[in-house]
Amino acid sequence: MDLTALNKIATAMVAPGKGILAADESSGTIKKRFDAIDTQSTEDNRRDYREMLFRTDTAMREHVSGVILFDETIRQKAADGTALVKLIEDAGSIPGIKVDKGAHPLAGAPGEKITEGLDGLRDRLNEYYKLGARFAKWRAVIDIAGDEIPSGYCISANVHALARYAALCQEANIVPIVEPEVLMDGGHDIDRCYDVTEFTLKSLFDELYAQDVALEGAILKPNMVISGKKCATRASVDEVAEMTVRVLRASVPAALPGIVFLSGGQSDTEATAHLNAMNAEYKDKMPWAVSFSYGRALQAAPLKAWGGKAENVAAAQAAFAHRAKMNSLAQLGDWSEGLESAG
Ligand code: 13P
Repeated sequence: MDLTALNKIATAMVAPGKGILAADESSGTIKKRFDAIDTQSTEDNRRDYREMLFRTDTAMREHVSGVILFDETIRQKAADGTALVKLIEDAGSIPGIKVDKGAHPLAGAPGEKITEGLDGLRDRLNEYYKLGARFAKWRAVIDIAGDEIPSGYCISANVHALARYAALCQEANIVPIVEPEVLMDGGHDIDRCYDVTEFTLKSLFDELYAQDVALEGAILKPNMVISGKKCATRASVDEVAEMTVRVLRASVPAALPGIVFLSGGQSDTEATAHLNAMNAEYKDKMPWAVSFSYGRALQAAPLKAWGGKAENVAAAQAAFAHRAKMNSLAQLGDWSEGLESAG
């Protein structure tokens, strides 16, 4: 493990004004996204869509520090034969790879999930490094449902797997993004989200320490502390920012170079407003860079503008560039609602 190299990559992933594009939708998820715009999920369509994003020059050059890819995409070539990985590198951005094999039912814990993919991971990581990946992602899913879910068992099984993944990544000189996502589905309030997130993060850093993961060469990708989607009372932007920063300060060691949030089903402007509030109000109280690693909150607008049609590529790229710029401003704490309509 070369910790200096890992720290350099991790630091570049959270450079000022930059964040990560999560373009690592699995085959099932990208099909769902394409279904919503009446587009068939063929290999060529997936390639065309992602090529369009990676060729959005200003967004990639100025606002996107890295891109998380799916296994298919890291091996794919653009229509002109250039490797998609090369398009990302040529824009000065860093290719990354999703390496987990999805969340599956956890035996003995009805309604809960464990993320799989550790078997054979060492070999896969070595291959991904050769294909250009310098960071990886593994997502654990923690649901909140009633008083019994999540169980302590579910959280400990998932953070144990996250730490095993992270240790293997660092051995392969790949920066692990550790992603324990507490879902925002359900009717729980923001206090319950706070408690579950705190327990999850504290358990995670315990396990990372136990398994000798060097925090200086890792990145955390958490949920924000937020009301459940079906909760009758929605917490304000300021409450989300205050409680998210509070739980992170209580749980995340300062050695970590950066924290990048998932959007998790927030609307694109909500995700931007929350990130902005944290950086605008608390930047000098946070020892890590705090940025974005959004999937839906960066891609919903370009997907809709594209609609699977070549004639819409310019409009879709403009939509992507706009969201990337808004989130870049939010990383700096310089975003405001008025900038949304200013285009
Ligand atoms: P969302 O921003 O759409 O939640 O996706 C981010 C991600 O990578 C989830 O694993």
